[in-house]
Amino acid sequence: MPHTSRRPRPRQPPKRKILEQTDGWSRVEYTSSQNRAQKDAHGNTAPLKMHLPARDPDLTVDKMREEHERVKKKWIASDHRRKVKEVLEKRIGPEKKWDVRKAVCVALGSLCVNWHTRIRSVYQFAFFMDVVDIVRASNTSNDIQVCVQEPRFDQLDRDFFETLNVKVLEDPAAEAELDATSLFFAPHLEWVSEIPYVKAGLDSPLYITASAKWIYERAERAKETGQDHESPEQLKVYEDAMTAASALRASHYEVEFDDNTRMEDSLDLTFYILKEREEEDIDDLAASVEELTV
Ligand SMILES: C[S@@+](CC[C@H](N)C(=O)[O-])C[C@H]1O[C@@H](n2cnc3c(N)ncnc32)[C@H](O)[C@@H]1O
Repeated sequence: MPHTSRRPRPRQPPKRKILEQTDGWSRVEYTSSQNRAQKDAHGNTAPLKMHLPARDPDLTVDKMREEHERVKKKWIASDHRRKVKEVLEKRIGPEKKWDVRKAVCVALGSLCVNWHTRIRSVYQFAFFMDVVDIVRASNTSNDIQVCVQEPRFDQLDRDFFETLNVKVLEDPAAEAELDATSLFFAPHLEWVSEIPYVKAGLDSPLYITASAKWIYERAERAKETGQDHESPEQLKVYEDAMTAASALRASHYEVEFDDNTRMEDSLDLTFYILKEREEEDIDDLAASVEELTV
C-alpha cells in the first residue's frame, strides 16, 4: 500500500510565463498575475502559438496510428524495455499489485508538427503507453485513465489521442491529477516548469522524469548565481525546487536509464518508484532495484 502521509500542497498552481526559444525548446519563468501570458481556449500561450511550426502535411490520424504501433513494437523488442519491465515488476513482486487509476503525461511535444524533435515525442508516447500497459497488467484495476497535457498540441494530435481514448488536459489541469493513484511522466520538461509537478507528485507510486537530481542541481546553481540580483520571490522558487527534488528522491527509489535504443536520447529518463516504508523487505527491494539500474 502506498504510504498515506499527506503533505501540504499549494492551493493555486504557481504562475508561469513560457518563453519560446529559437531551437524549439521553451524557457519558463515565474511571473506575477499582472503580466501572466494570455492563453487561448486551448491553453496555448501567445508566444508558444506564434512560433509553432506547421503540421506535417503528409500526416493523418491513420498514419499517426500506424507510426505509433510501429514505434511501440520497436520499443517492446528492445533490451531497454526488458530492463524497464523488470524494474517495474520487481517493485510489486508476485503477490502485490499497483493501485494506479490515472496515467498523466505532460510535455510530450506535438506528434505531428513538422520539425526535427517530432520523432522524439512519438518515441516518448509509445514508451508511455507501454509503461501504462505494464502497470495495468499488475494493477488492482484495468481501468487507468490516460491523460496528456502539452500546450503545443495541434488539432491533429487531439484527433489522434481521441482514437486511443487518451484525454487531453488543458494546462495546468494535470497538476490537480497527481496523487497517490497517479503514474506521472514528464519527458524532458523544462526544470522550472516541473517544480509544481515534483511537489504534487510526492505520493505518486511511479514518477518518471529526466532527473530530480538534475532539477536540484539546476535550482541550486540558479539560486547561487541569482543571490545578488534576483528577487526574494524568485530565490524562493529555486529553494522550493531544491526541497521538492530532495523530497522526491527521499520518498522514492531512483532508477536511471540511459537510452540505448537509438531513440535519439528521448528515453534518457529516471524512474522514481515510491518506497513503501511499512514493508519488512524494504532493504532487499532497494538492493534488487539498485542491481537493475542500467
Ligand atoms: C524541452 S521540450 C520537450 C519535448 C519532448 N518531450 C522532447 O523530449 O523532445 C518541453 C515541452 O514541454 C512543454 N510544456 C511546457 N510547459 C508545459 C506544461 N505546463 N504542461 C505541459 N507541457 C508543457 C513545451 O511545450 C515543450 O513541448
